[in-house]
Amino acid sequence: MATVAELLQPVEADLEALLSDLRSLIGAGHPILQAAAEHLFSAGGKRLRPGIVLLISRALAPDGELSARHRRLAEITEMIHTASLVHDDVVDGASTRRGVDTVHSRFNHRVAVLAGDFLFAQASWHLANLDDLEVVKLLSRVIMDLADGEVRQGLFRYDTGQSFETYLEKSYCKTASLIANSARAAGVLSGLAESQLDALYRFGRQLGLAFQVVDDILDFTGSDQQLGKPAASDLASGYLTAPALYALQERPALAGLIEREFSQEGDLEQALELVRGSEAIPRSRVLAEGFANEAREALTWLPASECRSALLALPEFVLSRLY
Ligand code: IPE
Ligand code: IPE
Ligand code: MG
Ligand code: MG
Repeated sequence: MATVAELLQPVEADLEALLSDLRSLIGAGHPILQAAAEHLFSAGGKRLRPGIVLLISRALAPDGELSARHRRLAEITEMIHTASLVHDDVVDGASTRRGVDTVHSRFNHRVAVLAGDFLFAQASWHLANLDDLEVVKLLSRVIMDLADGEVRQGLFRYDTGQSFETYLEKSYCKTASLIANSARAAGVLSGLAESQLDALYRFGRQLGLAFQVVDDILDFTGSDQQLGKPAASDLASGYLTAPALYALQERPALAGLIEREFSQEGDLEQALELVRGSEAIPRSRVLAEGFANEAREALTWLPASECRSALLALPEFVLSRLY
């Protein structure tokens, strides 16, 4: 199975340029905020979201060339993503991200909140400067969804009555919305028809949902080192994701442990064992596979190119993170 670097190879040079552009874009801010943002950019993520925007943009260009606005859209996408991670880590009290200290651990909470705001604000400014109202609406909706998703997640902590639908809505808000709307925005900048824009949106949405379910499985099955962030932390924080929700259907004892917020010695370990030992992980994998297949099917209409091939292989890559 291909690695993410292999899949993103058709836009590798673009992603290199993106990183240095991002550095100079954020360079105009206050030194501390700049250092905080730089800290995470340098640690390097998978750059999946800008990679998708760039692959779509190139796949749609008749000559395969990228416009400056498509490039800028990719940069905005990664800025919004990074900002959401800085804030998410504050909310979760997470110690590591991308294999390095989180911004609030390296600096402090005040700096992390401001650095996240600073990145969102920068992203909004560059977004407005694209001078395309439809694109502004799509991406500003994402910023609303991100905040909405964090609030929703908080409201349902330790709530064993949380429905699967609520979990998927939260996942759409926190993860799928950015991928879906930035994919659609790339199509808007390319002047596509409504039906094709819908297909791009659907690709991003289903891929994002698959990605989140996989991330939620890895939280139960991966190690801190593998993930570059603390593993086994969702359940401990009271976040009931796909594996926990499936396990609750199979193992009634789990509900009691969650409802008393793992307050007794050994509660959390027992709960993790209940989830890991049930059918919850394989069932979550099937759920992710369904979303991944739907993502792939949404893009088969693209004209043949190496970027199209990479896009069609992405859903499989997302699933391969489980093996
Ligand atoms: C992390 O996203 C947040 C989730 C949606 C689970 P990534 O796993 O894409 O993070 P980076 O950008 O590669 O660090
Ligand atoms: C991912 O949600 C989406 C955002 C961070 C906005 P998670 O809460 O699962 O992300 P991780 O696991 O902290 O990377
Ligand atoms: Mg989190
Ligand atoms: Mg997670």
